Amino acid sequence: MTHEDLSIVLEIERISFLNPWMPSTFEGEIDNAPISNPYVIVYKPVNRIIGYVIYWFLNKNVQISNISIHPDFRRLGVGEEVMYRIRRQIKKEGAKHVLLEVRPSNTAAWALYNKLGFQILGIRQGYYSNPTEDALVMGKNL
Ligand SMILES: CC(C)(COP(=O)(O)OP(=O)(O)OC[C@H]1O[C@@H](n2cnc3c(N)ncnc32)[C@H](O)[C@@H]1OP(=O)(O)O)[C@@H](O)C(=O)NCCC(=O)NCCS
Repeated sequence: MTHEDLSIVLEIERISFLNPWMPSTFEGEIDNAPISNPYVIVYKPVNRIIGYVIYWFLNKNVQISNISIHPDFRRLGVGEEVMYRIRRQIKKEGAKHVLLEVRPSNTAAWALYNKLGFQILGIRQGYYSNPTEDALVMGKNL
């Protein structure tokens, strides 16, 4: 992801989340390499950005902080493939654990992580706003 990608990234973010990240948050992620790893997902046949994923890599731990696929490209296996690719990459780089947070009401994301073998490690009460909701903390050893 580069600063030039942000208009389309923000468009996908706003369609995908009730409480979208601010542009400055994405800018901070881009500027925070190599701790932050922000990637866009490009659909090659039309050279179009159809999603993005951001993860932090710190002390052998990876935290997936954002992933979104444009609604027109969901349920095609893209999210799952991206998660597999991240897993392959971070394993090569020595990561031991992956963590993420998810709204319990987000059945699509929850089902994806469950399919990939993530387990619920705990609950962060009132973690999300607009609407207020707890976060499920999910994790997986590599
Ligand atoms: C969550 C998200 C990234 C999944 O991406 P995707 O490319 O549509 O997912 P995939 O097609 O790779 O699906 C892989 C598996 O996830 C699960 N899944 C994905 N979407 C689902 C849905 N709407 N309902 C139920 N299960 C779903 C299924 O187990 C699916 O496997 P299957 O196709 O064999 O049933 C996508 O729905 C999205 O961008 N949502 C909005 C943003 C978001 O909520 N991000 C996560 C924040 S924690």
